[in-house]
Amino acid sequence: MTTIIDGKAVAAALRADVAKDAIAFTGKYGRRPGLAVVLVGNDPASEVYVGSKVRLTREAEMSSFEHRLPAETSEADLLALVQKLNEDDLVDGILVQLPVPRHIDSGKVIQAIDPAKDVDGLHPENAGRLMAGLPGLAPCTPLGSMLLIESVQKDLSGLHAVVIGRSVLVGKPIAQMLLAANATVTMAHSRTKDLPAMCRSADILVAAVGVPELVKGDWIKPGAIVIDVGINRLPPSEGANKGRLVGDVAFDEAKVLAGAITPVPGGVGPMTIACLLQNTLTAARRRVGATA
Ligand code: GUN
Repeated sequence: MTTIIDGKAVAAALRADVAKDAIAFTGKYGRRPGLAVVLVGNDPASEVYVGSKVRLTREAEMSSFEHRLPAETSEADLLALVQKLNEDDLVDGILVQLPVPRHIDSGKVIQAIDPAKDVDGLHPENAGRLMAGLPGLAPCTPLGSMLLIESVQKDLSGLHAVVIGRSVLVGKPIAQMLLAANATVTMAHSRTKDLPAMCRSADILVAAVGVPELVKGDWIKPGAIVIDVGINRLPPSEGANKGRLVGDVAFDEAKVLAGAITPVPGGVGPMTIACLLQNTLTAARRRVGATA
């Protein structure tokens, strides 16, 4: 029987744990852990993500500081806001929602965030810490994906993990996390030769490329754990105003052979915000000198 990994349930349990710990933090330190979310412009998908982040931060017993700036905000003004948030003692985590408008250099903005408050784990210092095996803040989507893998398989030692996609946000960091968990890791990408054969050798397959249903059923090794990080909207079919959401894996085909697989939606997606909240709590504890 294939396990359909219920990301919604795992994420809800994690958020409940974080809320409990946030209440304990507030009792001890006299203030709530705080997350600042910055949205520049009004990209509709970003509006939805930011709305969810604000709501779930409050539900997790933390303070949410929301900064919505017009699309024409200058890079200098955004950098000044980041600086102000770096210096604000009530702010433990800072997230600048991506993408930012084209006239703003996102790399510059990410590098302006205090690494101790970089709950997105995107600052080069945190990327370096992950690589070096030092404590830091790691990106939320790969953290959430690892928790889902570990929900079905505790010991990854010696397993072959194939990661499709080499992005800074997902592919590269999850490869480091799998390596740290003693998996043997292969990073595959658009230039990989015979990708289907490579995937067929994977005990753990992570697809993070943003190509709808790239991974076919016959690419799956029987019993493999399949983690689908992709969220792609197909073109609308006749009469509909929105297309279907699909992952990077052809789910119906892949679930026949997989031992465990994440659905889209309801798999990796809900884990990202849960891990963001966990990172905020971690950052808050470190900032007050409590161990985390
Ligand atoms: N936009 C889409 N996903 C993310 C994310 O994980 N972090 C940020 N900052 N922006 C995003």
